[in-house]
Amino acid sequence: MVIGGGGREHAIIKKIKENPKAETIYALPGNGGMEDDCICTGVGAEDLPAIVEFAKTHAIDFAVVAPDDPLVMGCVDLLEAEGIPCFGPNKEAAIIEGSKAFSKELMKAYGIPTAAYETFTEMEEALDYVQECKIPVVIKADGLAKGKGVTIAQTREEAVKAVNSMMEDKIFGDSGSCVVIEEYLEGPEVSVLAFTDGNTLVPMVSSMDHKRAYDGDQGPNTGGMGTVAPNPYYTEAVAEQCAEEIFLPTMIAMNKEGRTFKGCLYFGLMITADGPKVIEYNCRFGDPETQVVLPLLTSDLLDIMLHVSEGTLAEAEVTFSDQAACCVVLASKGYPGSYEKGCPLEIPEDLAHVFIAGARKGEQGQLLSNGGRCIGVTECADTLAEAIDKAYTSVKRIGFENGFYRNDIGQRALKALEA
Ligand code: AMP
Ligand code: GLY
Repeated sequence: MVIGGGGREHAIIKKIKENPKAETIYALPGNGGMEDDCICTGVGAEDLPAIVEFAKTHAIDFAVVAPDDPLVMGCVDLLEAEGIPCFGPNKEAAIIEGSKAFSKELMKAYGIPTAAYETFTEMEEALDYVQECKIPVVIKADGLAKGKGVTIAQTREEAVKAVNSMMEDKIFGDSGSCVVIEEYLEGPEVSVLAFTDGNTLVPMVSSMDHKRAYDGDQGPNTGGMGTVAPNPYYTEAVAEQCAEEIFLPTMIAMNKEGRTFKGCLYFGLMITADGPKVIEYNCRFGDPETQVVLPLLTSDLLDIMLHVSEGTLAEAEVTFSDQAACCVVLASKGYPGSYEKGCPLEIPEDLAHVFIAGARKGEQGQLLSNGGRCIGVTECADTLAEAIDKAYTSVKRIGFENGFYRNDIGQRALKALEA
């Protein structure tokens, strides 16, 4: 069973399905757009008692816990206590994403490069600090905040507002009782997902997310409007430096803390003038990074996941194609603000990599939009330019009158390649 119901989970399910050992795949909850690939159960991804009950009554052999919330809440611990092997970190290890104060402390203690920072639990102290720190400054809620807990304050007024809304108005609930205030870094961003079982760490092909809603990196932050892989800023030299200074030290640090991480560890990196630094860790596959990374995986995902769970990742075959991939996300007009649901989605059957993130089946079985980000379309090709062209050709074939997408996914990466 796969916990979750978005585009990332659809990409994971499609890949797992390539292995004949995966006889029946359940998604908890899944969504109406995935029903050709798995059985959607409607069990909520954050309803841990219902997830455990489902696993027991359906004799589940293996569970993949994909989203941050259930991981941080301890879903893996509960399932493993019932003897169900899992892919994903336990609660003790998922804290690497669940608490920014923890992850910053970890990096400081183990000399892993990251932005300089201070942590505050008292609002008055945080407010005093933003009166004297360098501007721009970055303010982060400690806990999970549905990807919205980061403010880049360009002025002191914005910084004060961010501190107030997190610590006084509690717009992120308890997640903002503690805030991390950190140095603003500059440079291209790179996402690297890595399989690790605590003994071995294998980075996957790198990728680049596009977080802003509109072309030219304008507009509000979103969950991600598209991705390309590989990321041209992640050169071989950078990759080597990351492995030595960031990836392995993080795995070892977690072991030393008694929090061995098993699953997919996501490194959000910034390639600064002083070298690569960690912007954030996630305890899971990225969305929509997964939608470009997994189509390029040429070995067996389920087999890798089983090895991770058993602590034998060193024996697994993990290989990637040397092609490039581009994923364009179709979202409902208005996203990430308010938007209409229930609009028809028409998807040609011959598209190879269509990942449905927000959809449900209507009364006549037709597919209807049911979320902000609705569909991710990925294409692979020998060059990035071709992958981008193919992805946009495919996106234009999808019927979604109320949808929009960015027109410039991959353009920054192309320019970097040409430079
Ligand atoms: P997150 O929600 O942690 O993924 O952060 C959202 C985005 O904020 C990141 O992708 C970066 O673009 C930006 N960001 C986070 N921390 C910093 C920082 N210290 N300096 C500059 N930008 C940052
Ligand atoms: N695409 C960013 C994330 O999954 O956190």
